[in-house]
Amino acid sequence: MTTNNQLLNQIACLSDYRLHAKEQLSEQAWAYIDGASADEITKYQNQAELQKIYLKTRVLSELDQSDASTILLGTTYPHPILLAPVAYQKLACADGELATVQAADAQQTPMVVSTLSSTRLEDIANQSPNAELWFQLYVQHDQEFTRSLIKQAELSGYKALVITVDTPVNGLRNREQRASFTLPNDIKAVNLQGLPALKPKPNSSTFENIMSSAPTWQTIEWLIKQTSLPVLIKGIMSAEDATIAVDIGVDGIIVSNHGGRALDTQPATIQVLPSIAKAVNGDCSIHLDGGISRGTDIVKAKALGADAILIGRPLMYALATAGAMGVAHCLRILKDELQLSMALCGYSRFRDIDASCIHQLD
Ligand code: FNR
Ligand code: LAC
Repeated sequence: MTTNNQLLNQIACLSDYRLHAKEQLSEQAWAYIDGASADEITKYQNQAELQKIYLKTRVLSELDQSDASTILLGTTYPHPILLAPVAYQKLACADGELATVQAADAQQTPMVVSTLSSTRLEDIANQSPNAELWFQLYVQHDQEFTRSLIKQAELSGYKALVITVDTPVNGLRNREQRASFTLPNDIKAVNLQGLPALKPKPNSSTFENIMSSAPTWQTIEWLIKQTSLPVLIKGIMSAEDATIAVDIGVDGIIVSNHGGRALDTQPATIQVLPSIAKAVNGDCSIHLDGGISRGTDIVKAKALGADAILIGRPLMYALATAGAMGVAHCLRILKDELQLSMALCGYSRFRDIDASCIHQLD
């Protein structure tokens, strides 16, 4: 039998975890985790566009230190990697979010916990009291219930509120449909227990009812007033929306197309990042996710305007392969690759990386 340690020794990079995870997971869980919406063009594009960018090396520079630290929301973090909100982590391993939070703690990595976590917000916090947790909110149709979720996160010591805004309705999940994916009976959105049912409006379809309770910019302004936590908006894909977000006073944005799981045929996040960074002009923290799997990807994201990145699927692949140890190992690989890439590009400080390290090839 292969022990966890032997297994980890065979894993050299994040994409190796994907291959191992596929072996571990049921066809249904694989379709949910690895899949994206419709033809999965955006999911593919996220990675393909990162791979099309070439890095410029500057040789013989002073490399007296390797400082990967970054400033987010006014606080210094030791490195720019975060765990993206990913629902139902018990699909990947029995301990689910309780395993992830231990890895996050060990690797000093903020973990963004989904509203749809399969473990209660407070139980995740109790598992690792020193871990840095952020709460990802899906605004609910019941205002009081939404408010109670935020209060629970505040009481449990969560440090930031991430509001996901790119899925007023679910994406078209063809891969899940083909695999007949449904959640197993023992995996539930435990934080939403007690949510009152949506009262249908007369003469409206279910779709119209969901649409009419979807959040708007006014909802975000209301939410900012409800909490003392810094607020980030996740799912910004245009300079126009980034400008509105800054104007209403958010502390950060996450440039994200939901890993290609919302609207298909959106561009890659790395393609829209430069125009968004220009619009934001330093007025709030900028984070990016989608297709990040290498240290060089993080250098590219920083060069084009991101202060930090998040990983979604790689977290689930590592969790499915080797639980908490897998996630910690995955984070360590990415951090080591980042520091190596910085040194090979000629940087000793992450903060110094700018557009000059992108090769402009004719
Ligand atoms: C997600 N994502 C997500 N986002 C969010 O705001 N709330 C959520 O509950 C979830 N759930 C979720 C489940 C699964 C299985 C995946 C793969 C993704 C999106 C996630 O936060 C992130 O935006 C993408 O996963 C980033 O792309 P990569 O790293 O997966 O390429
Ligand atoms: C997803 C939802 C939960 O991407 O955000 O599956």
